Amino acid sequence: FLTKSIQIALDGPAAAGKSTIAKIVAEQLGYIYIDTGAMYRAITLKALNEGIDLSDNKAAGELLAKTAIDLQPSENGQLVFLDQQNVTEAIRSQEVTGSVSEMAAHESVRLQMVKLQQQLAEGRGVVMDGRDIGTDVLPKAELKVFMSASVEERARRRFEENKKRNIHTPLEELQGEIAKRDQMDSEREVSPLRQADDAIYLDTTSLTIREAAAEILRLAGERLS
Ligand code: DC
Repeated sequence: FLTKSIQIALDGPAAAGKSTIAKIVAEQLGYIYIDTGAMYRAITLKALNEGIDLSDNKAAGELLAKTAIDLQPSENGQLVFLDQQNVTEAIRSQEVTGSVSEMAAHESVRLQMVKLQQQLAEGRGVVMDGRDIGTDVLPKAELKVFMSASVEERARRRFEENKKRNIHTPLEELQGEIAKRDQMDSEREVSPLRQADDAIYLDTTSLTIREAAAEILRLAGERLS
């Protein structure tokens, strides 16, 4: 029985396995899991639906200000709601995936998202995954992990994951898309993807999901004892 709970920040590039591992860790510890990428995907979906110019910082911020994004745990994993509509599947489309980095680069969007994410995490045990969690959202998190894997391995994992969902994008295309998203997420001006100074680097290229989750649980255990 653990009376103390901690905040765990899990950052890293696209398709590094963060969400799968974060979910396992959260479940094991009885914490909530917050997928911040899903939140950026949800606002991107709305912008696409409403025909908003994705390069317009002001329009993007105004759109988010009048939008409700909710994450709810369920038996089948986390559900994502956009203005009370279940968009859990819709936010994984190729169209959203191809546009989300542009949306996530806007300062007007990030300022609001970070605030919202901080509120969701306040005073509770949480595992949060994203790009800027250890650096901006939860700078005081007791455990920060920066997870990565080679581009080839990440593309291969995404390929396998897609296959299960009946999506058949060629491997080379996935690799190109992941490399492009890495570059956009790392080079943007507002809170780019980077490892926090006090984060632990975890290379998962040759680790299984189970092994990576076990390592994070071990690190969490150290902080809890
Ligand atoms: O983790 P993901 O692939 O679902 O994230 C989608 C996009 O959202 C990703 O390209 C970068 C952006 N993102 C971000 O900028 N900051 C976060 N905390 C999470 C995601």
